[in-house]
Amino acid sequence: MQFITELKRTHSAGQLRGVDAGKEVVLMGWVKARREHGGATFVDLRDRDGFTQLRFDQSLNADLYEQAKQIRPEFVIAVQGRVESRGEMINPEMATGEIEVVVQRLEIFNAAKTPPFQIRDDVEVNEDLRLRYRFLDLRRDGMQAILKTRSQTNRAVREHLLDHGFLELETPILTKATPEGARDYLVPSRIHAGSFYALPQSPQLFKQLFMVAGYERYFQICKCFRDEDLRADRQPEFTQIDIEMSFVEPEDIYAMVEGMLKRIFKEVKGLDIDTPFKRYTYDEAMARYGSDKPDLRFGLELQDVSDVVAECGFSVFTGAIQSGGQVKALRLPGGGDLSRGQIDKLADVVKIYGAKGLAWMRKKADGSWQSPFAKQLSEAERAAIEARLGIEAEDVAFFVADKPSVVAASLGALRLKLGQQLGLIDKDAYAFCWVTDFPSFEYDEEAKRWVAIHHPFTSPRRADISLMETDPGAVYAQAYDVVLNGYELGGGSIRIHEEAVQSKVFELLGLSKEESRAKFGFLLDALSYGTPPHGGIALGMDRLIMLLTGTDNIRDVIAFPKTLKASCAMTNAPSSVDQLQLDEVHIALKRASTPVEA
Ligand code: AMO
Ligand code: AMP
Repeated sequence: MQFITELKRTHSAGQLRGVDAGKEVVLMGWVKARREHGGATFVDLRDRDGFTQLRFDQSLNADLYEQAKQIRPEFVIAVQGRVESRGEMINPEMATGEIEVVVQRLEIFNAAKTPPFQIRDDVEVNEDLRLRYRFLDLRRDGMQAILKTRSQTNRAVREHLLDHGFLELETPILTKATPEGARDYLVPSRIHAGSFYALPQSPQLFKQLFMVAGYERYFQICKCFRDEDLRADRQPEFTQIDIEMSFVEPEDIYAMVEGMLKRIFKEVKGLDIDTPFKRYTYDEAMARYGSDKPDLRFGLELQDVSDVVAECGFSVFTGAIQSGGQVKALRLPGGGDLSRGQIDKLADVVKIYGAKGLAWMRKKADGSWQSPFAKQLSEAERAAIEARLGIEAEDVAFFVADKPSVVAASLGALRLKLGQQLGLIDKDAYAFCWVTDFPSFEYDEEAKRWVAIHHPFTSPRRADISLMETDPGAVYAQAYDVVLNGYELGGGSIRIHEEAVQSKVFELLGLSKEESRAKFGFLLDALSYGTPPHGGIALGMDRLIMLLTGTDNIRDVIAFPKTLKASCAMTNAPSSVDQLQLDEVHIALKRASTPVEA
């Protein structure tokens, strides 16, 4: 079969340099721009490697010059020509800026309609339009750079794990519910009327079964599906770097993940990241940063002042302490120039997280306090607060009094807000940490039952197993998250490898024996046929790419993402299906399907 042209591509559009002057070349790609310049037409030809300036000279070839007038942005063309030095006209901003190609032959593969937006990074385009015409959006340099980073990261992950004795194994997509805390996407069965597969929220149980089966080190770069409320860092369909290892303790997992991230950052960004990462227990992270995913690129740690103000005259503080709560504070060095208006705005931030107000103090240059509650505190109490927080003249401190969960959430959010607003965050920094020893269970007040904080296959700390019967809230898990710049990059745990312990956990979570068998019988069986101690982790690939490329929008790192309404603006999925298809899968609709709006 003959290709559409006799021309054979010799170089990419990002390749040619000054030393190539004199060469005969063939380039193929898209027209990025066309300019007329007194008897010459200049065309920037783009492909995924870069772009090259082409010159069509009227004096050299009048016919060709006329032909070049037809071409428009986004036409796909091939050109044959000679590389010439630009001499005085060198463009140092451009990789190929030393040369241009003087065209001798032009072939137009395809014309293009005028695109709905310009294919360039410096033009702001509405995201709906970008997603509707994603195939054009993906032509932009910025998107191409992100997806190249994604490919490089995939490669670094694979090479690192294969080098360390992991097997890359696949697990089913049509499967049974795996509880990871979200709703399942269901797929109706045609053969088994009235039954449904669930798409995996993660390969959790299958990767554990690989350990039961003796594979020892497994990884997979896999899609996971979760029907949950979407946010800037969440998609219904996302990618995990999923890892499981046998005969390990948390230290082994930390070292493996640190080594992998070190390799990724070196290969993708040329950066040396420091390992081992800092570590905080969950309790310590909550106490110091008010968050289980602390952004460590800046300070502003929270401090407990409950003991100092326990006897003071300010009832907001004493009232909270007497009802079992606490008072914590955050010192903002040099924050004295915040206006009342700005402080009121900050109070609105903490109120979102349930705080009833935001108390504050400012130490003036003369050493006196300006504060709504200064008068209710003795001199000694004020001095003790200053000493505890390290207050100096022109500092401001903020206080929240409430139950610990509200204090942590509200001051944690205030800390982030101040860090962003006051430019305290070094945008080029990468601050990793491990957060370890999460609580195992929390009581769901609405459902009136205990739920697993990680997933129900996570092992409690050995010493805490006996507490499951007496005080489930006091049981800590052998669970850990890896955190980067305030994002939960990944999470994992040492798993339960004993059938008796797993059954006990199911019981605590309110599953009857029959329910446990119906849902997880295969796991309980597997655990009773010789299961090694094992553990693992999954890292969010999309979040990792967000952090590597510096975007805070997860849709920018996924080639074909879903909108915030979980639809695809380009294909209009999800969509209705015809009656025949519904009949085949035994489904009668309660409501006619409504077309998805873009
Ligand atoms: P977990 O539920 O913590 O753990 O998920 C692991 C990581 O996956 C990423 N992630 C997401 N990314 C984008 N969109 C989403 N909707 C989304 N949900 C999760 C996060 C998260 O840290 N089976 C366990 C892992 C294990 O125990 O080994 C699990 O899935 O970066
Ligand atoms: P009030 O006594 O309610 O007028 O509050 C006096 C000051 O304390 C105001 O600046 C409130 O924003 C603040 N405040 C009220 N409740 C709390 C609380 N739970 N924690 C911290 N500050 C509070």
